[in-house]
Amino acid sequence: MNRRNWLKISALLTAGAYTGTAYAMQTGCYFPVSDLPKDWLRLGSNENPYGCSPKVMEAMQTALKECNRYPNYDALIQKIAAHHQVAAEQICITAGSSEALALAAIAFARNPSQNIVTAKPTFNVFPDVAERLGVTRIDIPLTAEKVIDLNKMATAVNSQTAAVYVCNPNNPTGTKVETDALHNFVQEIAKRTVVVIDEVYHDFINAPSLIPKTTANPNLVVIRSFSKVYGLAGMRIGYAVAHADTVKKMQALISRPGITISQAGVAAAMAALDDPAFVQMSVTKNKESQQVLYNYLNQAKIRYIPSYANLVYFSLDGFAPTYLKDMQARKVIVREIDDYGQRWCRVSMGTPEEMQQFVEILKTMRS
Ligand SMILES: Cc1ncc(COP(=O)(O)O)c(C=O)c1O
Repeated sequence: MNRRNWLKISALLTAGAYTGTAYAMQTGCYFPVSDLPKDWLRLGSNENPYGCSPKVMEAMQTALKECNRYPNYDALIQKIAAHHQVAAEQICITAGSSEALALAAIAFARNPSQNIVTAKPTFNVFPDVAERLGVTRIDIPLTAEKVIDLNKMATAVNSQTAAVYVCNPNNPTGTKVETDALHNFVQEIAKRTVVVIDEVYHDFINAPSLIPKTTANPNLVVIRSFSKVYGLAGMRIGYAVAHADTVKKMQALISRPGITISQAGVAAAMAALDDPAFVQMSVTKNKESQQVLYNYLNQAKIRYIPSYANLVYFSLDGFAPTYLKDMQARKVIVREIDDYGQRWCRVSMGTPEEMQQFVEILKTMRS
């Protein structure tokens, strides 16, 4: 790696430039949301509106008493590995999955003569970091149904492709690709280049993960997070699952693997994996919240995309250009997406009661 590239990488890692902040600013709305007064509807970051499991809260409180001690990352790595039935050497834990995505980009997509293939719109951390390292970004539009177009992505891959990024379910559209199609895509494309599958919203779908395929495939990286269904966005815990050699390449970029996870973060993640009932509750309530919104969008004939994540994507056709500002004036945080010149709203799911409040506000905003 030359010195210029290394300086760029260091700047990206230390400035946290790859985090959600850059993404949020790009999508036209950034608030330090944890500082917002309680009466705001915080529907902008796909967080869990139920907090975390009470068992996780207890584990964190206990862990705080050990704050003077370094945490046992190995225990967490072993636990995640057992959860997915892979070897511990296949787990790379990071401070949120954003860090895992950035590490993957820096490890595999840092040669400016190369390109990465990604969908658009999608979650931007991986493509952004690659782009900042000088790599060309090939954006493939979604299908008319806002689903990632695997066929077109496969066609776009060429001898210069360093990596392909597929977010499934996709943020911001909430769509998922068909399981067999994705598995075939990975099998074919990973013969030629690295494939990064972002499974941060995987718990919201009932489909097999690609994690088992990482054991024998050095070109496959799967990304997971504790920020969504586990309700731990504020604790910053994520991880990549990959072939042991691939994990080594990613970890070669950080001083000590796991060092960015706090004592309370380790305890939280360990306890979260032991409480599947909380995950189930969150998934069930998410569907209830979606239904509250769908009922109104159907009735108002507003186009929306049926979602497989804790967010819903709906068209802003017929809404004022000042929609985002008007929402903020009503104490609501949502995202507006410029989707090839068309305006769409991505709204995260709150509780059913919060979604009813959101619907009432939406009703006042149609022009
Ligand atoms: C698809 C996707 N991947 C990764 C992330 C990053 O999440 P975190 O860094 O909190 O794990 C997000 C956050 O919204 C996301 O939507």
